[in-house]
Amino acid sequence: MTEEIKQIAREAGKMMLEAGEKTRLITCKSGKGNFVTQFDVEIQNYVKNKLSRLIPQAEFMGEEAGADVYSENEFVFIVDPIDGTTNFIRDYRHSCVSIGLLKDGKPYIGVVYNPYLNEMFEAKQGCGSYLNGSPIHVSDEGLDNALVSFGTAPYYPDLTEKTFEIAAKVFAHAADLRRCGSAALDICYVAAGRTDLFFELRISPWDFAASSLILTEAGGVIKTRGGHDIDFKSKYAVAAANPKAFDEFKKLVDF
Ligand code: IPD
Ligand code: CA
Ligand code: CA
Repeated sequence: MTEEIKQIAREAGKMMLEAGEKTRLITCKSGKGNFVTQFDVEIQNYVKNKLSRLIPQAEFMGEEAGADVYSENEFVFIVDPIDGTTNFIRDYRHSCVSIGLLKDGKPYIGVVYNPYLNEMFEAKQGCGSYLNGSPIHVSDEGLDNALVSFGTAPYYPDLTEKTFEIAAKVFAHAADLRRCGSAALDICYVAAGRTDLFFELRISPWDFAASSLILTEAGGVIKTRGGHDIDFKSKYAVAAANPKAFDEFKKLVDF
């Protein structure tokens, strides 16, 4: 099953790369900097169609075109066709397709593919996490030497002040900060030990459905603000990290 999902992600990634040559029809959704292109919609339709042949009885949840509603079912696919749309529009070349499969409400398979670097992150529940076939693991770096990425929650002005307040506190301790524009890749980078912690004050299930499994199977922790486990029914403030950096972050910023 994972192999088939990876193949669909690869084909979606190819569509993203081929779009590079074409004009992007950009539409604004609600809130500042909230864009969608025809490619987000085309890729979602393509992926949805392919996945529905893989598990015909599965429900589908995706960011675009009114598919953004969670449903209870034994199998649910949760898809972000392009995570990092602003990067995609600007040819910043740091975006991915994210496909998560839930079984009985729990993450079962996660695939995140960045076509620009040909990097395939994958995990299956209980089987560890892999990047292009090699096992990955979180770092054991504490906050003091941490490389921390964060999301600025651009469509939610109510969160700007708090976001940068936390970022300033963390910056005073950590090695440095990054804001890369794809929450799914941010979480996979923590899983691979490329960074040590990621936080954002409101992200959606399609941002973390696949990447949260890739993180936890790599030894990492992802929690909502207040220390709760995530589910896939709502948007959440999340911190994703190695266990040591997570504990120190939680104490520092009262997360
Ligand atoms: C966004 C990216 C971004 C994060 C936003 C997400 P999109 O997803 O993951 O890094 O800060 O909260 O909505 O719109 O590019 O799919
Ligand atoms: Ca997204
Ligand atoms: Ca998206």
